[in-house]
Amino acid sequence: MFEPQSTAFAKNPYSFYADLRQLDEPHFYEGANAYLLSRYIDVERAARNPKLVRSLEPFMDPELVKAEQRARNWHDMPNHERFVQFSLLERDDDTHFRLRVIVLRALSRRFVEQQRSMIEAYVDQLLDKLLQLREFDFVADLASHVPGHIIGHLLGVPDEDCPQLRIWSENIVQFFDVGRTEEHKQLAESATTEFYLYLSELISDRRKKPKEDLISSLVAAQDAGEMNEAELISTCMLILAAGHGSTIDVLGSGMHALISHPDQLALLRRSPGHIQMAVQEMFRFDSPLPFFHRYASEELVFNGRSYPRGAKFGLLYGSANRDPDQFPNPDTFDVTRDPNRHVAFGRGAHLCLGNHLSRLDMEVIFLSILRNTKHIQLSGPEPTYKRSLSVRGPESLRVLLTPR
Ligand code: HEM
Repeated sequence: MFEPQSTAFAKNPYSFYADLRQLDEPHFYEGANAYLLSRYIDVERAARNPKLVRSLEPFMDPELVKAEQRARNWHDMPNHERFVQFSLLERDDDTHFRLRVIVLRALSRRFVEQQRSMIEAYVDQLLDKLLQLREFDFVADLASHVPGHIIGHLLGVPDEDCPQLRIWSENIVQFFDVGRTEEHKQLAESATTEFYLYLSELISDRRKKPKEDLISSLVAAQDAGEMNEAELISTCMLILAAGHGSTIDVLGSGMHALISHPDQLALLRRSPGHIQMAVQEMFRFDSPLPFFHRYASEELVFNGRSYPRGAKFGLLYGSANRDPDQFPNPDTFDVTRDPNRHVAFGRGAHLCLGNHLSRLDMEVIFLSILRNTKHIQLSGPEPTYKRSLSVRGPESLRVLLTPR
């Protein structure tokens, strides 16, 4: 019934989600070994529930946690284990809070907003070249070049090294996909090692000569005794990994939504002041990270049913965002939707730390496209979407842009 690896699911996960929301109890999906929460109210509550945690730590002996983690992620990945598998996203309680506060401070809304003109300049020159071609793949030729580059730049990586960062990040993250192979494992471990060595040098550089960048802020936090060096490296890797692929995906599906809804595209052209609402609607309509897990840190009762300690839950943010009990006409793409309290960035203790940045990337890109074109259309077949439960985005999107 629920087959997230199928082509039918990739084409339209929303009819599967609608079926799940009709069930009296959460569906147990063996593929993820998790009870799937699909209604907005349940997903929201679960994300805010302090007894539902991301890691095994709060309810397992530390040695067992490591053994369990290794059994799930295979042995012999010392650097991936050290820097990726125990990042702040995978922690709870005090450690999580301590690291989160440091990132929140470094990646503040103010700091992000100050980057607007830098992002505009980068996007404009990229679009300039593409407008000479007119016909191109929006995902591969435009979207893929922006978020990783901007995050790299904010971290303090020289522009010429940013493409390498993207490759490391993709290899590190690919290991979390279903169907991973020995080759994925080796790629993930060697990418983590190379990235680690690269960051170590950059860190020692910034320690000697601080700049106005994220690495310098994190180094200052380490020098103040707020985090250790492994945590610093792990946090840099997480910031890149969390924000790169997800923003590419929502750029692709957002563009697809605009092209498929010419009335909404026309409205946005007439009133570009709606851009922030339009971007929020893109996140709601096709949430790029539709699935995250939680564990019950103790026996708990949820909607009248009891679950043992250690039970795993899947929070279907993508389904919650199409729940008619929360959003009128949820399957309608409406760039003026207000209110729009979507959960594409999660909720509660792990609420996304990069949400201002990814929304700014999106705003800048779509505004630049609207400003510089008079017509946008698909130039190839309808796109196919990735076959996955945990990410959603088109594989590619051929477009034809007519310059002004
Ligand atoms: C399309 C863009 C993005 C989406 C949809 C997204 C979504 C999310 C979600 C749903 C979570 C919470 C996970 C959970 O509930 O367990 C999260 C966490 C996180 N995100 Fe994002 N994210 C995006 C972009 C970014 C960017 C650009 C950055 C960094 C620059 C970033 C950094 C993080 C970090 C560090 C966390 C962990 C927070 C914590 O555990 O306390 N994200 N993101």
